Amino acid sequence: MIILGIETSCDETGLCIYDSKKGIIINEIYSQAKIHSIYGGVVPNIASKNHTKKIIPLIKKIIKKSLIKINNIQLIAYTYGPGLSSSLIIGTSFALTLSYLYKKPCIPINHLEAHILSIMLSKKKPNFPFISLIVSGAHTNLVITKNFNKYKTIGQTLDDSAGETLDKIANLIELKYPGGEKIYKLSKKGKYKFNFPKPILKNNFNFSFSGLKTHIYNFIKKKKITKQFKCDIAYSLQETIIDILIYKSFKASKKYKIKNICIVGGVSSNIRLRKKIKKMAKKKKINIFFPPKKLCTDNAAMIAYTGYIKYITKKKIKKNLKIKINPNLTI
Ligand code: KG4
Ligand code: ZN
Repeated sequence: MIILGIETSCDETGLCIYDSKKGIIINEIYSQAKIHSIYGGVVPNIASKNHTKKIIPLIKKIIKKSLIKINNIQLIAYTYGPGLSSSLIIGTSFALTLSYLYKKPCIPINHLEAHILSIMLSKKKPNFPFISLIVSGAHTNLVITKNFNKYKTIGQTLDDSAGETLDKIANLIELKYPGGEKIYKLSKKGKYKFNFPKPILKNNFNFSFSGLKTHIYNFIKKKKITKQFKCDIAYSLQETIIDILIYKSFKASKKYKIKNICIVGGVSSNIRLRKKIKKMAKKKKINIFFPPKKLCTDNAAMIAYTGYIKYITKKKIKKNLKIKINPNLTI
């Protein structure tokens, strides 16, 4: 089966052609990160304008490169939430228009479910059940993935997400949006100099990062910002966030007796997080899984793959062309 995946939930315009036998045929992303970096974050109307501008050139590009005609596509899968409504609407209308013109089935996909299933696009795949830690710019969720279509959220952030915290503090030390990877690069020259508070919320699996963010805001305000200071802030912040993520994931593994932990979403491409959790998991005999780095941040391959899974497991493909976006969709 050949599936077209469409992703426009935030500021990345993504298109992918996925073949259920051969895997990813082509996966292209147009990132607007540079455009939004001057504003310190994503500006919704600028994001939607750029999705509109880029989506047609992008489909032309993937068709030209893959030599697969739209008529040979058998299923169209698109993100319908969560995300920015003005961005979601572009991918949704594009998908429904293609579906109408080419008479192809069309399926709305939950972006969070797609992040969870992005793990199935890596070489080393977990067996069910597994714990999914979604760490992205918009989410920090702990989910028990019992099987395809069977998810149970056991914890989520009560305020800011891990990625958002990295982005906001990065902004404060003059790093451009998105800041996660830039924090990692700076941290390599830094030390664990500042013992920031670790909001653990001991009795549940929820997260809270806004207290940490405010603490660092106030701390930085009083200091002279030197190059070394920035590196030490980067190291200390990264380590604090990583420790919280690891603590909660291992706690969930212990409570639910599930030995497979999958870490997905933009922050999961962080090399320090990968190394630290793998090292600690070895001692506890826990298996850690990550998607390939290119599939951690937003992409259309995970949307196409999730569309395929929905098609083969549920077979309930919506034939109507009703616009159905949900910016606040959960899992
Ligand atoms: O999954 P994603 O592309 O978008 C959402 O669904 O939100 O995640 C974007 C987030 C941003 O906060 C970005 O700073 C963070 O992922 N990120 C990183 C790294 N690469 C991206 N955080 C830490 N280390 C990285 N290498
Ligand atoms: Zn995402």
